[in-house]
Amino acid sequence: MTKKAEIIVALDFPDKNQALSMIDELDGACDFFKIGMELGLRVDDEFIKSLIARGKKIFLDYKYHDIGNTVEKAVANAAELGVYMLTVHAEKQVLEAAVKGAKSTNTKVFGVTVLTSLDEDYATQYGCSIKDLVLRRAAWAHDLGADGVIASPHEAAIIKTQFPALKVCTPGIRPAGADSQDQKRVTTPADAIKAGADYLVIGRPITQAENPRQAALQIIDDSSQ
Ligand code: C5P
Repeated sequence: MTKKAEIIVALDFPDKNQALSMIDELDGACDFFKIGMELGLRVDDEFIKSLIARGKKIFLDYKYHDIGNTVEKAVANAAELGVYMLTVHAEKQVLEAAVKGAKSTNTKVFGVTVLTSLDEDYATQYGCSIKDLVLRRAAWAHDLGADGVIASPHEAAIIKTQFPALKVCTPGIRPAGADSQDQKRVTTPADAIKAGADYLVIGRPITQAENPRQAALQIIDDSSQ
């Protein structure tokens, strides 16, 4: 059996009720959810607190990228709600402010390295490969005291080798044979775990499945082979 990783379901829904139905449907099978920009405007702090009170773990994926003062306070606000983890862009100033904002709380700060919907064409504008860009940003996250990074499963192994202390969370997960949709740097759940991922973010392969609970249980089962 490979190392275990936690599955996080991306609640990419346009309203709160659809998100709540999915949370209820997955109850006990998966209790770790990502709230991102699509759902973000349709929920409030009471909603997030009520989920945490029900024992759900929340990953707030707003990918903060702003001046230090704003990032620090936004992160402190989110941490006060008790979210398990959140994302900021892996830029030096942003990471530094986010780590400060989360200080003395249990909220984990993750730096987004390079989106999984981007490929080598994106990296050419920086004059390097995707791998080098991801590693540069992972190094900043590591050196500035963040808890982890968001990266594609393709980069998970090298990040874990170079920065063993960093947790790696990978979106871009597609079960064998599934449509990759807009994602470019994808792998199966089992391969992401083999590469060392600690957390797998999975949205549409579960939320748009005919039977989301069964899809989640199947992925969890496949991941622990
Ligand atoms: O539906 P799918 O499994 O592609 O959803 C992936 C989720 O992970 C989305 O909510 C997307 O915003 C998020 N994400 C990503 N790539 C990143 C960071 C976050 O796909 N690098």
